[in-house]
Amino acid sequence: MDLDACVKGRRSVRAYTDEPVSKGQIESVLEAGVWAPTGMGREPWKFVVIEDKKLIKYVSEETKLLLQQMMPSMATHLQTGEDVICYDAPVLVLVCTEKDKKEHFNDLNLLDSVLAAENMFLKGYELGIETCYMGFVMLLRTKPDVLKKVGVTDGYDLMVPL
Ligand SMILES: Cc1cc2nc3c(=O)[nH]c(=O)nc-3n(C[C@H](O)[C@H](O)[C@H](O)COP(=O)(O)O)c2cc1C
Repeated sequence: MDLDACVKGRRSVRAYTDEPVSKGQIESVLEAGVWAPTGMGREPWKFVVIEDKKLIKYVSEETKLLLQQMMPSMATHLQTGEDVICYDAPVLVLVCTEKDKKEHFNDLNLLDSVLAAENMFLKGYELGIETCYMGFVMLLRTKPDVLKKVGVTDGYDLMVPL
């Protein structure tokens, strides 16, 4: 695909079909991520790929609970029973980085992760896989027990959910 068409064509999509995303497609998307520039060449990311729809639903429900506490005015919108967090997506990718105990690299880790994610959004679009930055899922950073259950183990920080 022409780069301009890709950059201008990609949109955040919030409704997904049941069409499966193949392992090959997921790998192509992740591979695009690791071609992104990274501060000091550290390549700090780890990617957690969740394909189990029950786990994705769990992520959404736990995120909703936190969002409701944070923004009570959104309660009605959130109590619909619909997945207004991950939109019933068949795949959730969590771009993570190793925890930096001395916090020297916190900013770099975030920037590297966002750059990797943008490459993934674009590659997804080229492959016909729609994507969305699921920013609210970041609230789960305050819930390490929930993150652990979905594969973000101790020692890793969640940076970009998509
Ligand atoms: C940091 C960040 C967080 C976002 N979080 C969410 C989110 O939680 N839910 C959502 O539906 N869209 C989210 N988005 C998508 C934006 O709403 C979207 O990119 C913006 O409206 C522009 O639309 P476009 O991506 O189609 O160009 C997020 C985007 C960014 C960059």
